[in-house]
Amino acid sequence: MDDKERAEIFINVHKGLRRGLWGLALKIGELDWSDAGEVQTAGRELENMMLFLREHSANEDEIQFSVLEEHAPGITQRDREEHRDLEYRLDLLEKHWCALLREERREAAGYQFYLEYNQFLSRYLDHMDREERDLTQAFYRHCSDPEIEDAFKKIVARTSPQDMTVMLTYMIPAMNPSERIDFLTKTKASATPETFDKVKSLAEKVLAPGSWRKLSARLG
Ligand SMILES: [Fe+2]
Repeated sequence: MDDKERAEIFINVHKGLRRGLWGLALKIGELDWSDAGEVQTAGRELENMMLFLREHSANEDEIQFSVLEEHAPGITQRDREEHRDLEYRLDLLEKHWCALLREERREAAGYQFYLEYNQFLSRYLDHMDREERDLTQAFYRHCSDPEIEDAFKKIVARTSPQDMTVMLTYMIPAMNPSERIDFLTKTKASATPETFDKVKSLAEKVLAPGSWRKLSARLG
C-alpha cells in the first residue's frame, strides 16, 4: 500500500522542519552581522527552531519510537543514536550563537556559525530522509494505523499551546493543499472546538491569502 494511503507519520512535521531550517539557512547566509536588529530577529528564529527540533526529537524518542519498539525491539537504535548526536550539535550551535553575541565584531564568528549551522542542516536532512524511507516502512510493517494515530494524539495532548503554535507556524504553510485539509479535518475531529478554532485562526495568519481561501472553502 502507498505511504499516502496509510496514517501519516513524519510527512507534515518534517516538511515544517525543512521549511524552518532552510528559511533560517538563507537568513543566516544574508545576515548583516553589524545590524543588531537583524541579528536579534535571526536569534529569535533560531530559538524557535531549537524548540521545535528538541520537542520533535523527544516526541519521536518517547512516543513514536516506543510504539514501534513494542513490536520490533531494537529497531530504532540507530535513529536514537543519531538523535543524541544531533542534540549534542544543537547544544553546541546554541552555545556558539551566545558566544557570537558577545563579540564586538561579528563578521568572522558569523561566518563560522554559518558553516556550523549548514553542517548541522545537512546532517539533519540526511537523518530525516532515513526516517522517512526506512523507518516509515518499518512502522507500516509492524504497526496499525490506529496505533500510529494514537501516538499522534498523545503528542498533541502533551504539547503546550505555545509550543504547538511555534510548530504549526512552520508546519501549516509547508504542507500541500491536500495534506493541509487532511490535517485540519483530523484536528477538527480530535480537538476541542476551541482548540480547532485557534488552529484555524493560525492557518489564516500564516498562509498566503490564496492558500487560505482554498483551505477555508474546503473546510466549510
Ligand atoms: Fe528523528
